[in-house]
Amino acid sequence: MKTLIKNGTVVNATGTANADVLIDGEKIAAVLEPGSKLIGFDIEGSVDNVIDAKGKYVIPGGVDAHTHMEMPFGGTNASDTFETGTRAAAWGGTTTIVDFVVQYPDQKPLEQYHAWHGKADGNCAIDYGFHQILSDVQDASLTAMDDLIKEGVTSFKLFMAYKGVFLSDDGQILRAFQKGAENGALMMMHAENGAVIDVLVKQAIEAGNTTPYYHGLTRPWQAEEEATHRAIMIANLTGAPLYIVHVSAKQAVEQIAHARDLGQNVFGETCPQYLYLSLEDQLGASSKEWGDFEGAKWVCSTPLRARGEGHQHHMWQALRTNDLQMVSTDHCPFCMKGQKDMGLGDFSKIPNGIGSVEHRMDLLYQGVVEGNISLERWVEVTSTTPARMFGMYGKKGVIQPGADGDVVIYDPKGHTSIGLNKTHHMNMDYSAWEGFEIDGHVDTVISRGKVIVDGGNYIGSKSDGKYIKRGLSQYLI
Ligand code: URP
Ligand code: ZN
Ligand code: ZN
Repeated sequence: MKTLIKNGTVVNATGTANADVLIDGEKIAAVLEPGSKLIGFDIEGSVDNVIDAKGKYVIPGGVDAHTHMEMPFGGTNASDTFETGTRAAAWGGTTTIVDFVVQYPDQKPLEQYHAWHGKADGNCAIDYGFHQILSDVQDASLTAMDDLIKEGVTSFKLFMAYKGVFLSDDGQILRAFQKGAENGALMMMHAENGAVIDVLVKQAIEAGNTTPYYHGLTRPWQAEEEATHRAIMIANLTGAPLYIVHVSAKQAVEQIAHARDLGQNVFGETCPQYLYLSLEDQLGASSKEWGDFEGAKWVCSTPLRARGEGHQHHMWQALRTNDLQMVSTDHCPFCMKGQKDMGLGDFSKIPNGIGSVEHRMDLLYQGVVEGNISLERWVEVTSTTPARMFGMYGKKGVIQPGADGDVVIYDPKGHTSIGLNKTHHMNMDYSAWEGFEIDGHVDTVISRGKVIVDGGNYIGSKSDGKYIKRGLSQYLI
């Protein structure tokens, strides 16, 4: 199958140009002057499919490096399966995800890795890789890290919160980081001080403050800043490269920026919810159906931050200045009925997570429209940097000859009303993004040369996606 995308504006992280893109089989074969011929050869006449992208952007497919499809968490499972979640991602212009294999205490990392293949293989609409979550960091976990790298799992997430579920103590973190320093794995951190949070949560519940709003109040920015600093110091001590996930507090950004200025390999991701949503939005949202409990829709960790404190503004700024390098969703969806409502009367029992895998490309494009980031930076933070950060660049994250034919045709004159009448494709009974209007639209999505979304139709299949054996982070020397 050969496809020619003609007359479009090709946007890479490095620049923008009017160009035609030829995809041959699964790969991009050429990026050409508009209308040009290859040594006199009529390209258009020789391809199977011609797409006219006049007036539209032709961008590398989105890479969402933080998802939790069907993750067992908070007494339930994230509501998107690999099938529903990757299909929703495709609808939104994301052609690669990196999902988290979970190792709970006493489980074996490699067994869990194989279990995750059992869930994902043959069920993904788009390509997928895995990170591995480590909880209790047994001796065997350290040797498993070497084995997993050979399998293409080159990044490992640890948690400084969720005692008894995910939490690793500082000694365990140190040991895992020592291994990362030795084998080149990128160490990822959920940076919140769990012990402090657990006491604040207990005190809030005892005082009768049980509504979802208190989820945010009991996970203050100080707990994020302190844990971010501690993780950076342990990484500094060991020499491990460190990636802080889902950064929401401006003070945590400052910790990351400071370490980077001193030359340390520290990176940070934020998520659309921390760019757009706030604790105040959560408080104001009282509905007929749910009353104050409606705030459960936005319960995630790290939590949404007070707008009055300027965190959201700071996240955009940090994306511009490269104090934060990329945007993932932390897609971890739960339905209100039967899942989030487990926390009625006790916010600490609300499963933590927000679903956004379908909306990330649109929400970040709106940042271009509103002057928060440039067009090229949009591509960089949503596709190019995630691909480089997690060892996939060259195949993913760029439109150039030899790259995978993962291409999105994005219409800046189109419009997307998010969440309206539950029109999303994620397996959720609500949208955390209800009412968001985007001045742009994902028109066509091509995954390894195959058109899977075309003019409002999904025409892919659940087995289109292949497992990606990732290399080490391409930001490290
Ligand atoms: O609330 C969140 N973020 N849920 C997913 C698990 C995690 O910590 O990433
Ligand atoms: Zn986390
Ligand atoms: Zn997560």
